[in-house]
Amino acid sequence: METIAIQDKKFRISIESGQIQTAISNIAEKMNNDLRDREIVFITVLNGAFMFATDLIRRIKHNVCISCVKLMSYEGIVSNGQVKQLIGLNEDLTGKTVVIIEDIIDSGNSIDFMLKFITTLKPDAIKIASLLFKPSKYKFNHKIDYVGFRIPDEFVVGFGLDYNGYGRNLENIYTLIES
Ligand code: IMP
Ligand code: MG
Repeated sequence: METIAIQDKKFRISIESGQIQTAISNIAEKMNNDLRDREIVFITVLNGAFMFATDLIRRIKHNVCISCVKLMSYEGIVSNGQVKQLIGLNEDLTGKTVVIIEDIIDSGNSIDFMLKFITTLKPDAIKIASLLFKPSKYKFNHKIDYVGFRIPDEFVVGFGLDYNGYGRNLENIYTLIES
């Protein structure tokens, strides 16, 4: 089994890049059907969702606008549950279908904050796409429209996700080995 080390932690491979790419293709195919005839604005949540977003958006066959935002909320491996600020959104979203692209939805605090904020900008509809979803941690009822993988309550890195800033470049996803 492939294991890697990042700083003081060890991780084992849990989702291979081929599986990730297949999941992204499936999501893109669904979006290409669902979002036909809409004015689409993709909002990528940086930093974690950058890799998912580029692989997803390049498979979308409609005319789309793309924007990136940044939320500061997470340190180390424990969510502090406080989402402070959303930076970078200056699009006119009136009448648009917004698709929020997230790397992972854990407690749901970040997505809840974003939904509240984006709703005030009066889009027609808001869809959520997340590569990873931890259902056992999720505290909200907002529907996650597109999910790549449902995962247990474990800490993961790779494919955009980090541990203390490292691991985002890995093409596979790795799970923390508890020691
Ligand atoms: P939430 O607000 O609790 O849903 O957490 C969302 C954010 O926490 C994600 O966008 C990630 O940046 C970060 N996060 C949650 N779980 C993990 C993980 O297992 N690995 C790396 N980052 C994570
Ligand atoms: Mg994130």
